[in-house]
Amino acid sequence: MDYFEIEGGVPLEGEIRVFSAKNSVLPMMSASLLAEEGTTVLRNVPDIADVRTMAEVLQRLGAEVKFDRRKNIMHINAENLTSYEAPYDLVSRMRASFLVMGPLLARFGIARVSQPGGCAIGARPIDQHIKGFIRLGAEVSEESGYTVARAKKLVGNTVVFDRPTHTGTENIMMSAVLARGRTVIVNAAQDPEIADLARMLNRMGAKIRGAGTSVITIDGVEKLRATSHTPIGDRLEAGTYLFGAIATRGKVRVKNIKPETLRTVLCKMMDMGAAVSTGRNFVQVEMTRRPRAVDIITDPFPGFPTDLQPMIMATLTIAEGTSVIWERIFENRFIHVMELQRLGANITISGDRATIVGVEHLDGATVMASDIRAGAGLVIAGLVARGKTVVKRVYHIDRGYQNLEERLAQLGARIRRLTED
Ligand code: EPZ
Repeated sequence: MDYFEIEGGVPLEGEIRVFSAKNSVLPMMSASLLAEEGTTVLRNVPDIADVRTMAEVLQRLGAEVKFDRRKNIMHINAENLTSYEAPYDLVSRMRASFLVMGPLLARFGIARVSQPGGCAIGARPIDQHIKGFIRLGAEVSEESGYTVARAKKLVGNTVVFDRPTHTGTENIMMSAVLARGRTVIVNAAQDPEIADLARMLNRMGAKIRGAGTSVITIDGVEKLRATSHTPIGDRLEAGTYLFGAIATRGKVRVKNIKPETLRTVLCKMMDMGAAVSTGRNFVQVEMTRRPRAVDIITDPFPGFPTDLQPMIMATLTIAEGTSVIWERIFENRFIHVMELQRLGANITISGDRATIVGVEHLDGATVMASDIRAGAGLVIAGLVARGKTVVKRVYHIDRGYQNLEERLAQLGARIRRLTED
């Protein structure tokens, strides 16, 4: 099993270009199932475990998937699908596989997907997805750990989510595009990846308006054809490098990122004392002082993203002052706190709030990643800590980052990947 060995204390400096957003690429790979003719082409696709898993899911369904991992280009042809089932062994590896439900139901009138279950950060129910499918006329049943949805023809309707759900919005949008008539999604998630997905679907022939806002209108069409698309840059990968630069008092420019996808995060970075400059397609931060403490509430977009909570927490451990983080999206997203405490952080948890009293420095130790973003947060803490930090179970990190250690090393970090016997 691989682990990272980090020598802390080196400021990150330089430029780096992020890949296409994982959380755009995964739904877009699923959306390719909707194309009855042609080959979908996705560009700048990161070579990460979650993308490879989704490719396996599509191949199990009968799609032809070619991923040029050197050029980061993916070709998907879904003209001759042979199955409508996403099996347990793949869905249990990556819950986002559940995103194939909408396209399969829309195209075939049936979908059988293993229930995704929870993960380290929370129970992750799918009740809102199911409610949406039922609103569009599907019959949904649970059969031996699988969710089975059936509908001769989906019919447009109004779908009101109890709370914004990122993949729930995507799943319903991808089923409504072939429904008869109009669907309106109310209380939709507003993440930039959802607007990105809608842009791709509209280029495939769909009629979607309002994606990126809380009300999305979809007028069903007869059929969709494949298209080529370059997804937006990954704001979570970008945020990881930016917080790494702030924590280590460096200067980093991240390219292929739209600043408006990180607006709330950049405001918080400025509150922490970072100099932030932006252009149409880049964000640069420079940090010449110890960060100031700030308070954070994680919230659906455009609020502060829960996925960057571990990274800002790692940065706040050495801030001047006391910060409070209120995690309002997932019920168990403080697992990384124990690991940060092993590095000398002064953090106490009370329910869904973590109080971080800034300390002068962290000291290297062995820590363990528990999910993609917790792992990335621990890497940032290792970049800051004095001496050597070992981050174990980096397979979690490899699910969402392509060669994170090599890319951080390009920015000056002293980090390497080793393998335990
Ligand atoms: C997406 O997960 C992302 N994954 C997650 O990123 C991200 O953390 C999350 O959105 C929140 O931003 C992908 O896009 C592939 P939600 P998703 O449905 O869609 C509750 C990463 O690191 N909920 O927006 O599963 C849910 O429990 C991953 O890349 C229901 O109650 O998240 C949570 O508390 C980790 N019922 C809240 O809503 C439902 O039917 C938001 O979840 C669905 C969700």
